[in-house]
Amino acid sequence: MLTRMVNYLQPAYLLLFCTIFGFKALYQRLLSSSTTTNTTFREAWFALFWAYWAPPSTTADYSAVSRLLSQCRGTILDIGPGTGSTLPLFPQTPAIKHIYGLEPNRSMHAELQRSIDAAGLSGVYTILPFGAEDVEKLRAAGITEGSVDTIVTVRVLCSLEEKGLEKVLEGLYTCLKPGGEWLVLEHVRNWKSGVSAALQGFYQIFWPGMLAGCNINRRTNEILPRVGKWNVNDLVPVMEEEHWEIMPHVWGRLIKARK
Ligand SMILES: C[S@@+](CC[C@H](N)C(=O)[O-])C[C@H]1O[C@@H](n2cnc3c(N)ncnc32)[C@H](O)[C@@H]1O
Repeated sequence: MLTRMVNYLQPAYLLLFCTIFGFKALYQRLLSSSTTTNTTFREAWFALFWAYWAPPSTTADYSAVSRLLSQCRGTILDIGPGTGSTLPLFPQTPAIKHIYGLEPNRSMHAELQRSIDAAGLSGVYTILPFGAEDVEKLRAAGITEGSVDTIVTVRVLCSLEEKGLEKVLEGLYTCLKPGGEWLVLEHVRNWKSGVSAALQGFYQIFWPGMLAGCNINRRTNEILPRVGKWNVNDLVPVMEEEHWEIMPHVWGRLIKARK
């Protein structure tokens, strides 16, 4: 029972921890002599928070993320790589040809570039400074229909805007080659425990505002399978998690149908 109570409070600790970085971001903005900036306050805040939070999160999810990313091959679309904490887990050439990292939050780019260099991916990784919804820019960057072998979304689909979400996902689906793979690890709405789902609903009041648009209770596991035709959908709950987990994850692979 105690474990369960502690788990229910986890999002509250996270919000509290995140608040500290809000003050830090505010302080930095007040000290900054520049009057123009290419990021919003919310983006700068999230970048500071995520630089601290990503490494322990990746360690916690290590088993799933490492198994998932070991399947990357060819031309890869890495959606929302953030500060790049998962990059050491990507395979190297020749398994991979090129990785395009779509990261709209420019406050994260310096740290992301450091992670790219540290992972030995400098020659094959290009940061694209826009979001997954920007199909025109994707095409201009050479990512045409059916040109991508692997799409990676690790802890990202919770952060895409609700409005037009399915359309954005359909747009990404068109980028995949037939037989291409979409690799997923996402926290989702708890569909096994009404109490946890209700608590998620409560946390959701504060969550997007403080965490750069993240949704604690998105039904990604229901939405993603219906955006296209798949030959394989092996999205499963993370095994170690209890049915009452306040931030349950699903992970796995969807393989685009060949016809
Ligand atoms: C919780 S972070 C996860 C970062 C990284 N995938 C990881 O696991 O460490 C969510 C990321 O999604 C990015 N993001 C938000 N909206 C996006 C969009 N429309 N397209 C692509 N990335 C987006 C954010 O900027 C942020 O870097």
